[in-house]
Amino acid sequence: MTRPDRKPASRIWGTGHYLPEKVVTNRDLESVIDTSDAWIAARTGIRQRHVAADNEASSDMATQAARRALESAGVKPEQLDLIIVGTISPDMPMPSTAMFVQRNIGARRDCPGFDLSAACAGFIYGLSIADNFVRSGQARYVLVVGVELLSRLVDWSDRSTCVLFGDGAGAVVVGPSDGERGVMSTHLYADGSKIESLYIPGGGSRTPPSEAMLQNKQHLVHMTGKDVFRYAVRGLSGSVKAALEANAMAPSDVDWVIPHQANIRILEAVQTRTGIPMERFFINIDQTANTSSASVPIALDQASRAGKLSAGQSLVFCALGGGIAWGSALVRW
Ligand code: ACO
Repeated sequence: MTRPDRKPASRIWGTGHYLPEKVVTNRDLESVIDTSDAWIAARTGIRQRHVAADNEASSDMATQAARRALESAGVKPEQLDLIIVGTISPDMPMPSTAMFVQRNIGARRDCPGFDLSAACAGFIYGLSIADNFVRSGQARYVLVVGVELLSRLVDWSDRSTCVLFGDGAGAVVVGPSDGERGVMSTHLYADGSKIESLYIPGGGSRTPPSEAMLQNKQHLVHMTGKDVFRYAVRGLSGSVKAALEANAMAPSDVDWVIPHQANIRILEAVQTRTGIPMERFFINIDQTANTSSASVPIALDQASRAGKLSAGQSLVFCALGGGIAWGSALVRW
């Protein structure tokens, strides 16, 4: 995963994102649960989140983001050799969301695809896999999507979790590098000893769907927020430092950090620990809340379309979520 002495094999050819039309503000939530705009904004940095329409599923959002990424990359769907979808909110347990995306965008019928379950780190994991597929020559163009529809997986009566999340999708097309620009390194980590700090315990083979499971709300997100906060500060800072070290870079060499958008206070702590100034962090948490695996590619596409990124800049991506799974990537844009 660490290749300071080697040229990049792959680069991001194009980006896209999709946010559902419906916006739910903190003030809207004040009438539903015992919370306030002031509390949510001060404790998390979130002001609003997008929420999918009743007839929207994850693959619908993923499809929109994928089409935009393909268009910006100038790559046709039939040129794809692999489709990776990072998600913990798939359309259904079987088949993978990637199969719906393959069908919707008109990729080749023999183009392989799969879903990847690494929660908020799903996009970083997917990017790392895509980079390795391109490096090995097994794929030329790989579509990597992060999509999440967590508004259907949170307990809307639990104020400590429901205010944090939003729906959306982000996508990139990964293809061959031109030799200088591209994915310089990826670092992936996981710690299964901390599973119970953030998980959805029901609905799988251990606790299959049942009336009792629904009554106990085991199909929804369960989180010990304070623990996850600590893991996030430690994991994100450590993975960013690993990326810098692997590329023999100093904090001042970083042009942009495109971080997972979970909590502005987490990011402030990461900036203190890494020494990368806050103005180099691209922040959209106030608008989107935490979209889990979609958050990094949404932020990347927004930064790109806003004209904030220029060729040759050094970008660091980082994310952490359920598992606990986390990681980083260093990309020369
Ligand atoms: N509105 C008003 N009050 C609230 C709310 C709310 N939405 N939520 C909790 N409170 C109350 C609590 O009940 C508590 O009240 P009490 O003191 O009377 O018991 C008080 O606020 C303080 O609660 P804490 O849990 O101590 O608040 P904290 O400052 O730790 O913030 C939070 C909670 C925002 C969840 C924080 O711990 C956090 O962000 N953790 C990271 C979790 C996260 O981001 N998870 C997403 C997935 S993982 C990832 O993406 C990194």
